[in-house]
Amino acid sequence: MPVILGIESSCDETSASVCVDGEILSNVIANQTIHEAYGGVVPELASRVHQQNIVPAVQQALLNAKVNKNDIDAVAFTRGPGLLGSLLVGVSFAKAFALAKNLPLIDINHMQAHILAHFIGDHKPTFPFICLTVSGGHTQIVLVKDHFDMEIIGQTLDDAAGEAMDKTSKILGLPYPGGPLIDKNARSGNPDAYKFPEPQIHGYNFSFSGVKTAILYFIRDNVAKNPNFIEENLADICASVEKRIATILLNKLKRAAEEYGIKDIALAGGVSANTGLREALTNLCADKGWNCFIPKFEYCTDNAAMIAIAGHYKYLKGEFVGQEVAPLARMPFAPQPPEGGAG
Ligand code: KG4
Ligand code: ZN
Repeated sequence: MPVILGIESSCDETSASVCVDGEILSNVIANQTIHEAYGGVVPELASRVHQQNIVPAVQQALLNAKVNKNDIDAVAFTRGPGLLGSLLVGVSFAKAFALAKNLPLIDINHMQAHILAHFIGDHKPTFPFICLTVSGGHTQIVLVKDHFDMEIIGQTLDDAAGEAMDKTSKILGLPYPGGPLIDKNARSGNPDAYKFPEPQIHGYNFSFSGVKTAILYFIRDNVAKNPNFIEENLADICASVEKRIATILLNKLKRAAEEYGIKDIALAGGVSANTGLREALTNLCADKGWNCFIPKFEYCTDNAAMIAIAGHYKYLKGEFVGQEVAPLARMPFAPQPPEGGAG
């Protein structure tokens, strides 16, 4: 019955979770509101707030799980990818805790953890499955052959889907993070009100920078004609943007699933919280007779439960790292040597 403490601090959520024998008993997430005023995450501020939040978050996670810190068997932490200063806080905390309690350390890739969130609870996909991982920094189609045997078969060549959501919301004058606000406003809008282009990119890759520019010009031109254009049409703009981003994502996902002949289809990452995308994938899977896996909301955006569950599976494999481990701002899926640096 391994008891794993999971730590996540790659961006602007400080999170701690306790996983006992593959079951998540707590998942405490401290959001950082300080970035709202800046229209995006300010790395230096994020690191400082992580430093303030990490100990209370872990204490609360232990309390909620009713687990004593002496009962923990291993500490799993996000090693990368992410903001280096933010990662350093989580990695240093994990190392200090492990050193004090003489525990093994487990390094986790944040993007793999988003996918492994599907192993929380009873509705688990079977290998091999395909996962569309859409977050603020990444957009990937991943062929998942085993818990830690994953191949990226498509990814964005420029902006991520979440970035496109956040930048659109900024153009519309909405605060950061914009994704949830686009979602909220889209619910009362007409998704077919405005048409934005669908880029033609080779293979299973994506591009969102052209769409973002098209949205920018569309808003600019319309505001020039009518200064109240945004206020009068906010719901329709959000619904149309959301629909275009969802169709770009799902058209590639559909092709990948068909060409690989895979019927278990999963969605992961922060943008998987999006109502329009969730509905569109549910409908696509129903049409095709595919099994659809969409995470609960609390496991979509950044959280330590996904780190703890990934840690559970690595613990079972006996894969640990030493105290010399360093965070990685960029981190490929393959195992990394301890002294990787920030390349
Ligand atoms: O996975 P995540 O929490 O952090 C990263 O690893 O980047 O993803 C954050 C992204 C942000 O771009 C945010 O705007 C987007 O997920 N997001 C959403 C929604 N909730 C979060 N985008 C659209 N609709 C949502 N409901
Ligand atoms: Zn994430």
